[in-house]
Amino acid sequence: MDQETFAAVDAFVAETVAPDDEALTAAVDAAAAAGLPAIAVTPPQGRLLTLLARAVGARAILEFGTLGGYSTIHLARALPEGGRLVSLEAKPEFAAVARASVERAGLGELVEIRVGPALESLPGLAEEGVGPFDFTFIDADKVNTPHYFAWALEHSRPGALIVADNVVRGGALADPEDPDPAIGAQREFHRMLAEEPRVGATTIQTVGAKGYDGFTLAVVN
Ligand code: SAH
Ligand code: DHB
Ligand code: MG
Repeated sequence: MDQETFAAVDAFVAETVAPDDEALTAAVDAAAAAGLPAIAVTPPQGRLLTLLARAVGARAILEFGTLGGYSTIHLARALPEGGRLVSLEAKPEFAAVARASVERAGLGELVEIRVGPALESLPGLAEEGVGPFDFTFIDADKVNTPHYFAWALEHSRPGALIVADNVVRGGALADPEDPDPAIGAQREFHRMLAEEPRVGATTIQTVGAKGYDGFTLAVVN
């Protein structure tokens, strides 16, 4: 088994059960045209986000890391009328691309993209009484995953789902000697989950068009 096979299977899944429609294809194209890095979730992973958010009946969704809005569109599609998604993005030029793609997808009314380092946007969300959230997708700067999780947990309703992307990083998660602070943060995140009585959590490794990685799922009691 190799990367070519993983990509071929992702392509098959995307051709069959989880195809990108016009709006998602346009979002990918707009991100590429604007020079954004190609690090969005894959089509099957994006569909998983839609399904998970739907499964918990999400009405309020929080996303860390918008990039070009590809995962944002998948998540917002799970929302009922009157639902709300807030997505936090550090780079104004990325947020601008994402806003246009979200609008094009017909989801502009449901989605708000806030620009700035996520940790600086969080106090404002709390003050404005945005939330509690039913679903949180953590996918921004990986060193801050533990901090984003801690905040999300405090602002989640019982039964909420918190998903963190890119926790496995080619298997580096298992290496206590890895010098990358982003890896250290994922290991710390797992220790934090182990000691947190308010959630049940697990981590699932994934392969696909974008390599070997994985995500953590935590359900709030
Ligand atoms: N969720 C997107 C991919 C996000 S990539 C998708 O799957 O479609 C990670 C994003 O996090 C990038 O756009 C990056 O600019 C943003 N980011 C990095 N550091 C951040 C921070 N401190 N606060 C908010 N966003 C940040
Ligand atoms: C990176 C970020 C992501 O969210 C991802 O899915 C893959 C890679 C990165 O910053 O390299
Ligand atoms: Mg990611």
